[in-house]
Amino acid sequence: MVICKDNVFLLKNDTLSYLFRVGKYGELQHLHFGAPVDIDDVEAFACRPGLGWGSSVLLNDADSASCLDDYALEWSGSGRGDYRESPLEIGTSTDLRYVNYRILNGIAPMANSLPQARGECQTLEITMEQAGLRAKLYYTLFETALTRRVMLENTGDAPVSLHKCMSFSMDIPGQFHLTSFHGGWSAEMRKNTVTVGGAKVVVESLTGASSNRHNPGFMLHEADATENAGRVYGFNLIYSGNHYASAQLSMQGLTRVMQGVNPSNFCRNLAAGEVFETPEAVMTVSDAGFGGMSLLMHRFVNKHIVPAYWRNRPRPVLYNSWEGCMFNFNQHRLLDLADRAKDLGCELFVLDDGWFGKRDDDKSGLGDYNVNLKKLPNGMEGLSKAICKKGLQFGLWFEPEAVSPDSDLYRAHPDWALTDAHPDVLGRHQLLLDLTKPEVRDYIVENVSRIIDEAGLTYVKWDMNRHLSPVYSNVLPPERQKEASFRHMCGVYELFRRLHALFPNAMIENCSGGGGRYDLGMMKYSTQIWCSDNTDPVSRTYIQYGSTLGYPTATMSCHVANHGSSIEDPRKLNYGFRVALNGPLGYELNILGASDTAKATMSGQIEEYRAYEHLILRGDFYRLLDPFACGRYAYYFASADSRELLVTYLQNYADP
Ligand code: DGJ
Repeated sequence: MVICKDNVFLLKNDTLSYLFRVGKYGELQHLHFGAPVDIDDVEAFACRPGLGWGSSVLLNDADSASCLDDYALEWSGSGRGDYRESPLEIGTSTDLRYVNYRILNGIAPMANSLPQARGECQTLEITMEQAGLRAKLYYTLFETALTRRVMLENTGDAPVSLHKCMSFSMDIPGQFHLTSFHGGWSAEMRKNTVTVGGAKVVVESLTGASSNRHNPGFMLHEADATENAGRVYGFNLIYSGNHYASAQLSMQGLTRVMQGVNPSNFCRNLAAGEVFETPEAVMTVSDAGFGGMSLLMHRFVNKHIVPAYWRNRPRPVLYNSWEGCMFNFNQHRLLDLADRAKDLGCELFVLDDGWFGKRDDDKSGLGDYNVNLKKLPNGMEGLSKAICKKGLQFGLWFEPEAVSPDSDLYRAHPDWALTDAHPDVLGRHQLLLDLTKPEVRDYIVENVSRIIDEAGLTYVKWDMNRHLSPVYSNVLPPERQKEASFRHMCGVYELFRRLHALFPNAMIENCSGGGGRYDLGMMKYSTQIWCSDNTDPVSRTYIQYGSTLGYPTATMSCHVANHGSSIEDPRKLNYGFRVALNGPLGYELNILGASDTAKATMSGQIEEYRAYEHLILRGDFYRLLDPFACGRYAYYFASADSRELLVTYLQNYADP
């Protein structure tokens, strides 16, 4: 429920409460984010106003309790006495004050193309204003979490330069530790815990994607929080571009935390009447430790983020050609592989990179959609028919956002790539297309949808293998280039939205050089995400453990793959499978020469997975051992009635 009484606002569900009020100067004071409380408990949480002494700047010189620096606030600006980090920067001081509120049933839809949580919920809209600027703060309450976002409107006559606008900011009383997940390519989701003190802690990405460097999901928690006890706040952003979060402890013992689009290299020019909407941030809290917080986040993501069609459906066990073939395949080899995959019990055959243009390695062909007839003489339709005839579904790999300089597309439209006056810098030998351009988005949607139709695809693997650079769009004038990265991201989402509207039931598996976009923005359109190119099972235990803190296992694609799973070594094949039993299952290794024993082992594994799939995709997930702490990963899934449990214990090393 969402209620307001005497300028106090309470959002409350079965697991949490969020309480704040309007102060006497129209400022919003944060009161409580934690266990359920009543609206009448307000005074118990009120912050003592401080003494306004020394160097303090007061809103009202006659009122020593009017120093904003001393308060726990819901939102702040600059130039009014609050010298902590501001969630809003427009180049001049700001003085937004409360005007009114509305409570809506359901969400308040966003006007831009950013992904948004959906489903049963209530929304509180708070309007704040100053001369020439209006801010609407949105709070949407779901069953196990809430979201926050901000809409800014230029209500004046002159343009406003927006340099920073976070999705939320709040001051939580107390000191916490912050756990985030950093890493790099093939080393995603490394857990990192620091104490939040007077020095600011920042979690951010500047790569143009949510990135493998720093996942946008993070937690603030009590120093001694464990898997089962202690207060843990979970935060995340429904956004796949440059993100920023910070936490810092003030002298008053308040931890200011905020999250949103990274203000670095960002600016938005708002003409009179124009509006900017931030991505939605998600937050939840539990007093039952990391496990308690994860359960709430998992339920929220499963119910309100991932595509509705796939929420409660079993997934086909897939065979992916990449690690078994790389670029080296022809129709004959693929059909042989499909036969073997079918015999094992796989239901979906996925042809990965290399089926189009001149693409015998990663140096050419991206951007072209003509099927490589040397490899596939019967075209994609021919291959697809032959695969489907075997009783398999068919899926294909695409990398729609990229273009190879050696491609027909680039030769025809060099201006479609993100390039600037400097020599091009390539990543994996490729450039990125400028998705701020409508004609580029149309080209991608037309071609991807044509192939999906022609080949009757039920699955698309959507890859994106390099970071953004230069972030320069020749659609925008030079002085507005700081808008490019956010506008580009909106272009990416428009692609997903349009394709999703055309093929609402198709499975999309997201991938960005592995886990470069393992985030809630991508989950909005993806059934599952490939969380790393590192398929070594030992490494995978760390990556999977990290992923489960903030994301449900149903989103985490798990393959038994070449690296470390050595098909003819029963111990390794078994270990690879046990590690993969953590999410939707796939096989990604050369099965052509597999012995009868190896084949029987894999068939047995698929049967075993099928028996447990309902728990893996829809059960409650509880971690037992943290590989970062002890080199062992253990967890269990439980059915809703706790009558069924699936326990996995993985001892990575021989050490006791
Ligand atoms: C990177 C992906 O992460 C791999 O799984 C594979 O699809 C390759 N790209 C193909 O180029």
